[in-house]
Amino acid sequence: MAIIYILLASVVLPLLLYLYFTRHFNYWKKRNVPGPKPVPLFGNLMESALRKKNIGIVFKELYENFPNEKVVGIYRMTTPCLLIRDQDVIKNIMIKDFDVFVDRGVELSKSGLGANLFHADGDTWRVLRNRFTPLFTSGKLKNMLHLMIERANKYIEHVEMLCDHQPEQDIHTLVQKYTMATIAACAFGLDIDTTDPNKDQLKTSEEIDRLSLTANFAFELDMMYPGVLKKLNSTLFPGFVSRFFKDVVKTIIEQRNGKPTDWNDFMDLILALRQLGDIQATKRNSEDKEYSIELTDELIEAQAFVFYIAGYETSATTMTFMLYQLALNPDIQDKVIAEIDQGLKESKGEVTYEMLQNLTYFEKASNETLRMYSIVEPLQRNAKIDCKIPDTDIVIEKGTTVLFSPLGIHHDEKYYPNPSKFDPERFSPANISARHPCAHIPFGTGPRNCIGMRFAKIQSRVCMVKMFSKFRFELAKNTPRNLDIDPTRLLLGPKGGIPLKIVRR
Ligand code: HEM
Ligand SMILES: *[C@@H]1O[C@H](CO)[C@@H](O)[C@H](O)[C@H]1NC(C)=O
Ligand SMILES: *[C@@H]1O[C@H](CO)[C@@H](O)[C@H](O)[C@H]1NC(C)=O
Ligand SMILES: *[C@@H]1O[C@H](CO)[C@@H](O)[C@H](O)[C@H]1NC(C)=O
Ligand SMILES: *[C@@H]1O[C@H](CO)[C@@H](O)[C@H](O)[C@H]1NC(C)=O
Repeated sequence: MAIIYILLASVVLPLLLYLYFTRHFNYWKKRNVPGPKPVPLFGNLMESALRKKNIGIVFKELYENFPNEKVVGIYRMTTPCLLIRDQDVIKNIMIKDFDVFVDRGVELSKSGLGANLFHADGDTWRVLRNRFTPLFTSGKLKNMLHLMIERANKYIEHVEMLCDHQPEQDIHTLVQKYTMATIAACAFGLDIDTTDPNKDQLKTSEEIDRLSLTANFAFELDMMYPGVLKKLNSTLFPGFVSRFFKDVVKTIIEQRNGKPTDWNDFMDLILALRQLGDIQATKRNSEDKEYSIELTDELIEAQAFVFYIAGYETSATTMTFMLYQLALNPDIQDKVIAEIDQGLKESKGEVTYEMLQNLTYFEKASNETLRMYSIVEPLQRNAKIDCKIPDTDIVIEKGTTVLFSPLGIHHDEKYYPNPSKFDPERFSPANISARHPCAHIPFGTGPRNCIGMRFAKIQSRVCMVKMFSKFRFELAKNTPRNLDIDPTRLLLGPKGGIPLKIVRR
């Protein structure tokens, strides 16, 4: 009798599990789409699911391993998905056929923070995007500039103090202090002090960071069973985070009596939107049905949350990588500094919107930084209906998630010779126009690209201009010459920080 149980436990059960966790693995072979061999349960994502590699790096390698293919059939855990390599196909999906590929395909519960713009689907996304786009115009940004400059001035005092006492600093933790304070001011009008390690405000910001930006196994579960998070009524984000944003939003709405003030932060802009009543989707054609949603407190909390989370860490890591590359390339740093000095001289020492817009060499260097280290990886869209890829026999079936690897593209010799070299001249007008428009997509592309691109640009520039007007950044003894990317974070970021030496100019 016992022998039967042992046999059952050691042979039959593993066999059944094996069959179950490999049940879809013929999908791409049957359709003649090339791709790497999947591993039971993990598909092609074993290294990222076990947190050995950042998911962005895993996708970069998948991209690089099939240099001659337009598309690559992969498995995210057990689910078949398609990695798109070809630039024209990318353009088709992200721009031309956008109406088929509106959603990202990570469905969260519609209640709570799940209703945020990044994770919203279909008509809800359309309404939200339509109404929130005007919040990011250059006019609105100009009104916010003073909030950024105030935070930058305080932050620079802190850096000056550090520079005198302990000039070698982890630059990632350092610039986070600026972006956290800035986004808190621009999103909520909060004046938080992130430079004092004993203050609760810094601890709370760090806790929200940890809870929201650490890779979460719920994502792997959703890859195996698409839609499961919505069925489980899960928003992915822990109670601490949703309570925090609920409290902040509630307090601010009360303080402002539900009406916009003259702060000009995002909360003011959202309250002004709410005064207009229900928000509606613009009709794309006469057959489109009316669709409108009410801007409830819950919906406001979700947007406040996504602006906050998407707003500080993306800019912080981008500045970190840029400072690192400028320390490695002092001649390029000299040029960046010279341009900033010139700009400040022309604007009589004032940081103005026009002065920031005018930093063309800085822009090349920052585009080159985002080429080498694009931080939101991979990009994805989900097919609403079956869709044939032009010039191939491949049909993307309804419900299939397609993915893009900006990192893979940005390190492809075809578009960027000697890709590990930091060279801002790749973004000279002549070099840009010689490339496919989808060869540089750190902010995504098409109607669902990053809504905060302009904000990110101005927020980062205020900080960098202020820093470079006082300091230079040099390599320290412990600065890594080869960067490791943190496998446990959702965004691309340096593992264990990057120490640099801050030197007064
Ligand atoms: C260097 C800084 C940033 C980078 C590299 C970045 C990158 C991205 C990327 C790649 C996407 C996905 C685009 C796509 O799928 O095509 C995205 C979406 C988004 N980003 Fe950013 N981002 C940055 C800063 C910001 C800031 C400052 C904010 C807000 C204040 C923001 C808010 C958002 C939102 C709300 C979405 C979702 C848009 C939608 O689905 O309609 N981002 N971002
Ligand atoms: C989903 O969860 C929220 C709280 O997180 C709750 O208010 C709501 O009623 C739940 N919805 C369903 C359908 O269970
Ligand atoms: C922009 O830069 C150019 C060249 O450096 C300079 O001539 C011009 O005055 C600047 N404009 C502003 C508004 O700073
Ligand atoms: C184009 O980029 C290359 C580096 O890839 C650089 O050497 C060259 O000077 C650039 N060309 C122009 C016209 O700026
Ligand atoms: C830098 O990148 C942005 C966004 O991809 C693009 O709009 C801009 O034209 C680029 N500028 C330069 C100088 O490369």
